[in-house]
Amino acid sequence: MPATHRKLLAANWKMHLSLQEAQELTSEVVQTYQTEIAAPLPLVLCVPFPYLSHVLHLTKGEPFVAVGAQNVHHKAEGAYTGEVSAQMLRSVGTQYAVVGHSERRQYFGETPQQIADKIALLLEHRIRPIFCLGETLEEREAGQTIAVLTTQLEGSLAGFTAEQMAQIVVAYEPVWAIGTGRTASPEQAQEVHAALRAQLTAHFGDDVAQATPILYGGSLKADNAAGLFAQPDIDGGLVGGASLHTRSFIIIAKALATYAH
Ligand code: 13P
Repeated sequence: MPATHRKLLAANWKMHLSLQEAQELTSEVVQTYQTEIAAPLPLVLCVPFPYLSHVLHLTKGEPFVAVGAQNVHHKAEGAYTGEVSAQMLRSVGTQYAVVGHSERRQYFGETPQQIADKIALLLEHRIRPIFCLGETLEEREAGQTIAVLTTQLEGSLAGFTAEQMAQIVVAYEPVWAIGTGRTASPEQAQEVHAALRAQLTAHFGDDVAQATPILYGGSLKADNAAGLFAQPDIDGGLVGGASLHTRSFIIIAKALATYAH
């Protein structure tokens, strides 16, 4: 597996774009990255399943552009109509996969144990999981943010070794900030990221905690990225809406590239 770069920017296209639009966006992002981003900043495009092979083809040979899935099934194989396994993802060349996104927890009832099972299968197939966690507005207002995140983190990651954790990317996505235009302030996000890193230290040791990318996601845009990325424990982003347009995604990448070396 490749060594961990702590800085990383991931796009989550969610259920958007036609194949043609996806191909155009990929080509534009690759071209613009080559001409405008001088730093070695890994970009991960998390695309709908049917586009994985096309996007992998268009990014082939690009050392800093990787391709991810947005989900994976929690069983290795079997009679699970409509599902996609980690082995299938690996067989087409997928390098990353999002797991535990709040949309999947909320709309598809994904449980902490299923998320742990997904992570185990991904690691077995040498795919890096992007593990998402986040609190709702209600939980934040009740002062439960850190308690909720601790439960989510321990519920899905506690069973892994430090060596396995070294392959996992963490993404803090406050549910109240996703798709709402309401971003966590740099101070709010930094406070949570520092707390998450402290928990990683407690469970997996300082070396792993220091090397783990902890991304921020939730209405991350061209005009608020720089403030967030200036925080010491915010290592990058998981970008939804703003990743669907080359310009906004590249502006966000440039803001992060300042810190990538
Ligand atoms: P938005 O950037 O559209 O708020 O989405 C964030 C997200 O959920 C990324 O996974």
